[in-house]
Amino acid sequence: MKISILYHTRTGKTADMANEIKRGIEEVSDIEVRLFPLDQADPAFIQESKAVIVGSPTYAVNACWQVKQWFDEGCRQIHLGGKLGAAFATADFPQGGADITILNILTHMIVHGMLVYSGGGACQGPIIHLGPVCIKPLYEESRKQFQIFGKRIAEKTLELFSE
Ligand SMILES: Cc1cc2nc3c(=O)[nH]c(=O)nc-3n(C[C@H](O)[C@H](O)[C@H](O)COP(=O)(O)O)c2cc1C
Repeated sequence: MKISILYHTRTGKTADMANEIKRGIEEVSDIEVRLFPLDQADPAFIQESKAVIVGSPTYAVNACWQVKQWFDEGCRQIHLGGKLGAAFATADFPQGGADITILNILTHMIVHGMLVYSGGGACQGPIIHLGPVCIKPLYEESRKQFQIFGKRIAEKTLELFSE
């Protein structure tokens, strides 16, 4: 079963955290996971993916425009409806709006007919309500949270889509 992780990055932090999610997914067997910068996304692999995870840096308390462009135009060849969707964000400041970035991405996913999931409060700790967030003062400490999130998404993907 395939999972795609898409992200935009300018200074590397969102890519770094995308890689931590990938590491968490790889703890689960029977999953093939690939990472794509948004401008190098492989439509064929994404179409075959049962789950699509999207990450963005927080720009002005929102997702970056590259994420909106991808959902508005870049994913035209892909039918996202029915796939599991999940989101993550990086930001500089604790009150910098990373949760709003995640909500923005989840909104795009809902509009495309995706089934959005984070694990929320239904999992044993750590609690990840909307999706994992990495802020500058907690950069290294965030890695584990992203790995756990990846594992949760992979397990839910198998639970929902295994025949
Ligand atoms: C144009 C711009 C706007 C930003 N706006 C915010 C913001 O509103 N809140 C915040 O906490 N960080 C903000 N940042 C910081 C980035 O979200 C943060 O450095 C992020 O981790 C960068 O991700 P990257 O390394 O993947 O490019 C902004 C950065 C830029 C370049």
